[in-house]
Amino acid sequence: MNIIQNVQKAGQAIMQKAVEHAPDALIPGGRPDPIIARDEPLIGAPVSRLDGALKVKGAAPFAAEIPLERMAYAALVYSTVAKGRIASLDTSLAESAPGVVLVMSHRNAPKMKPVPLFMTKPKAAGGANLPVFQDESVHWNGQPVALVLAETQEQADYACTLVRVTYDSAHAVTTLQEARENGLTTGSFQGEPLEDINGDAERELAAAAYQVDAVYTTPRQNHNAIELHAATVAWLGDELRIHDATQAVAHTAWSMAEVFGIRESQVHVTSPFVGGGFGGKSLWQHQVLAAAAARLAKRPVRIMLSREGVYRVVGGRTLTEQRVAIGAGDDGRFAALIHTGMAPMTEHNNMPEPFIMPARCLYAARSMALNVKTVAMDMLANTFMRAPGESVGSFALECAVDELAERMALDPIVLRRRNEPVQDPTKGTPFSSRHLIEAYRMGAERFGWQARDAKPGMRRDGEWLIGMGCATATYPYYRMPGGAARITLGADGRVRVEVAAHEMGMGTATVQTQVTAARLGLALEQVTFAYGDSAMPGSVLAGGSQQTASIGISVNAAHKALFAELLALAGRDSPLAGLKLDEVRGHDNGLCKTDEPSRYESYAALLARAGRDQIEVTAKAPLPLETQHWSMHSYGAIFCEVRVNTVTGEPRVTRLLGAFDCGRILNAKTAASQFRGGMIMGLGLALMEETLWDERNGRIVNPSLAEYHVPAHLDVPEIEVLWTDIADPHAPAGARGIGEIGITGTAAAVANAVYNACGKRVRDLPITLDKLL
Ligand code: MOS
Repeated sequence: MNIIQNVQKAGQAIMQKAVEHAPDALIPGGRPDPIIARDEPLIGAPVSRLDGALKVKGAAPFAAEIPLERMAYAALVYSTVAKGRIASLDTSLAESAPGVVLVMSHRNAPKMKPVPLFMTKPKAAGGANLPVFQDESVHWNGQPVALVLAETQEQADYACTLVRVTYDSAHAVTTLQEARENGLTTGSFQGEPLEDINGDAERELAAAAYQVDAVYTTPRQNHNAIELHAATVAWLGDELRIHDATQAVAHTAWSMAEVFGIRESQVHVTSPFVGGGFGGKSLWQHQVLAAAAARLAKRPVRIMLSREGVYRVVGGRTLTEQRVAIGAGDDGRFAALIHTGMAPMTEHNNMPEPFIMPARCLYAARSMALNVKTVAMDMLANTFMRAPGESVGSFALECAVDELAERMALDPIVLRRRNEPVQDPTKGTPFSSRHLIEAYRMGAERFGWQARDAKPGMRRDGEWLIGMGCATATYPYYRMPGGAARITLGADGRVRVEVAAHEMGMGTATVQTQVTAARLGLALEQVTFAYGDSAMPGSVLAGGSQQTASIGISVNAAHKALFAELLALAGRDSPLAGLKLDEVRGHDNGLCKTDEPSRYESYAALLARAGRDQIEVTAKAPLPLETQHWSMHSYGAIFCEVRVNTVTGEPRVTRLLGAFDCGRILNAKTAASQFRGGMIMGLGLALMEETLWDERNGRIVNPSLAEYHVPAHLDVPEIEVLWTDIADPHAPAGARGIGEIGITGTAAAVANAVYNACGKRVRDLPITLDKLL
């Protein structure tokens, strides 16, 4: 490391300490968002999705449903080797097939720079930073090597089968064994090494009265959003127009501009409706290839990946091997917590599957040793998939806690309660709001936990054994830099809010309309929340469960700017004359003095007096310093009842309950749906999802929903969801994110229930029937 890097690092460390020790009032959220204390009927109300009717009627256009004049359809040819070079490429048959417009490959593709890799720049959106169609090199089995453009999708698909490719294969690292032999590297996530050492955990473990020490493994998984990845693109001169299915409109616009060497303002990305993202809908090769083909053909292009195409082009979750060892004293307190292991990634991405995140924040252990090591494989770049790290990390950690509880003859909830920390176990910062124990209390009572027999195999119904298990869910509160919002208030008192954010089915548009209406003292119908457009303010990622906080604080900043402007306009004749910004609030279509609502003037009257037909304000969110000042996490307790068939080994989840502590819940209906969706994905993680990888050639061999199983209706029981609804005083509107936490803890709760049912401890996901026979 050179001097400059050392100085930078030291500077960062000083900044970090300064933020930790700064007075609360200087930190965003240090003075609680006033709306937390107000009794606002719209906050938390179970408002149905405002976009629901459009979707039910099929009137919500998705990326692959935008019709453009003279549009051509793209299809991709994928490599069949994991590494090497294209030796020959014969496109003549394909080019003469019916309807074919052109075939694009590295030979004729426009010059393009590699896609900026996610998290390396503020608006980088790429899942990988490999060059696209710039040379004959092949980096993974399934890499696109040719694109066919035709008048119809069917013609493009057919012509792809006529492209003849041969390869000079090079040696590829496709076995875990070889990857490991090549060496392990400490993973780095968000600019920090995935390593925490406190004391001598191995010594403390060896000396502890009770120990568990086991290895847990989780498989590769692929993204299967209902909506296939798609983009409809057109060049209008030097301007690139992209209708995308994305979690990052602003990031995509900036990154595509980098790829094509044009200005950010020359790229316009919209994405008003997205059929599920889960971390997979960032910038992959298909959007780049569609734009390149559109430029080559001088025609608009639509690309929609097939289901197999998503497995070839869009990265998924990587596999993990994790060791969890816990040493505890007679009092049940953890003397040592060790959570280490490894995950494969590639040379051209940066997602080390940070599975130690739950161990960092959940337990007060006297000593700790946590790390994530990575090994390099020649494969499609792995990426974010709902709670990367936490989903698989909580499986290993929370199974180990269950194993320890059994060894100590303690109820697993009692064991967790004994190790509840009073401050952040790794950083030492105070918790912003933590009510995990309350979540356990609520959940256990509702679930009927006291009926559980700690001894496995005690409950039987015919050929079925029945068991119960529980586990902790957790996910961090994040807020990424770059938030901003514009509010336009019209003379009719209606408001339009604009943020370059996303609605992927979570309910974002509905929830933000509710919160904005409550802030401004308006009815729902008077607020329009506009989003999904890179031309709008902000670069707000729909990821890391942080969109609600990011939009929330941005809109809060914009509404303050609006109120400041209104007060400046009010003048001496207004009942509001002389009032300061922190003395007023939105109320009944106007502004009033917070503690004296009779001092009031309507927005319409304020604008009329000033002779204005509208006021438009744009404001930026403050830097997200609150995450360094407080330990901010969401929590939950997952309870599961499972039946295991003694004849076939078949596991069937019959009851599932989640009790969550995620701050204030902003919409009871859409929140419950988010929690349920996460828990259903957790059932998939526990019982069925598994990408099958051929170690001989690095090819994914089950790229379809026929062979890659996700939970279907009959696999999903009635899922009960509860929450503490205790506002986080330091989060915008008191709400922490809820998009990812449901998948965390669920797999461990299932595995712990399976053990309680039949006495088999499966440490290797997914828990399929062969492992239970
Ligand atoms: Mo998420 S995996 O941050 O979309």
